[in-house]
Amino acid sequence: MNRPVRKAVFPVAGLGTRFLPATKAMPKEMLTVVDRPLIQYVVDEAREAGIEHFVFVTGRNKSVIEDHFDIQVELELTLEQRGKTAEFEALRRDLPSPGQHSFTRQQAPLGLGHAVWCARELIGDEPFALLLPDVLIQAPRGCLAQMMDAYATAGGNIIAVEEIPADKTSSYGVVDVGEGDGQTFEINGMVEKPAPGTAPSNLIITGRYILQPEIFTLLAEQRTGAGGEIQITDAMIELLKNQRFTGVRFEGRTFDCGSKPGFLIANVAYALERTDIAPDFLDELKRIITSNGGRP
Ligand code: UTP
Repeated sequence: MNRPVRKAVFPVAGLGTRFLPATKAMPKEMLTVVDRPLIQYVVDEAREAGIEHFVFVTGRNKSVIEDHFDIQVELELTLEQRGKTAEFEALRRDLPSPGQHSFTRQQAPLGLGHAVWCARELIGDEPFALLLPDVLIQAPRGCLAQMMDAYATAGGNIIAVEEIPADKTSSYGVVDVGEGDGQTFEINGMVEKPAPGTAPSNLIITGRYILQPEIFTLLAEQRTGAGGEIQITDAMIELLKNQRFTGVRFEGRTFDCGSKPGFLIANVAYALERTDIAPDFLDELKRIITSNGGRP
């Protein structure tokens, strides 16, 4: 019987330099796609997958994330007084239950691996999910829920992967595909940012993980990797020597909201899913595209 995955880590301590000046005084994870901050989408995805405790690793300027997941008494009173019941109830639905979330601080942005290591005391000796809030995945069933299915069978460590064009793999972590049915397979190896033409596959690591707690022992070594940062992929490569990793080609579409084009496209894609917005929005979008002959 595999140990249950009850907790999830959300690293939100990065500098978000690609979005300056928007992220000068506001965390990247509070940027909105339509009308919800990025962090809310991933928390919802984790909740859908059965996660019971949410651990946020925050940094400077991140108190707004704590406020977002807290009750705003004055705002709620005003909404009630004005009869805005639907808005009031929607706010309440987004909140974790009392005691269901914890915050810890990464004192310096030393890399994703370091941010995850900062959560070790709050996670303890149990498997956990890791979700990168700047990766949104639009799917009929949440990506983490799909990974939980694979975990129920395979146990160990699970990584979400997606296919990209072969000439783009040198910017990502790439997996070496072992035995499996194509959708779910054993991972034989991983390589971070392979030199062009050397990638073992065109399946890249996509920002959703289920990891065993032994990863913390490896992260504690605090070895720096690509970009002088402590990388989670380096620790996973070490862990792979002793533990099983399974890759899951999830159903869904990924948006890299850490980049400006990815973030903008996410706004378009999510707006088009919304019945209250889509018709007018689509008309306007078509008008913009046709008015300049489809050219940028
Ligand atoms: P990124 O590398 O995409 O985020 O990290 P960044 O460093 O904030 O962005 P740029 O490149 O400067 O624009 C992916 C996730 O890991 C978190 C980030 O907050 C983001 O959610 N992260 C990254 C940390 O929590 N700590 C770090 O030291 C680095």
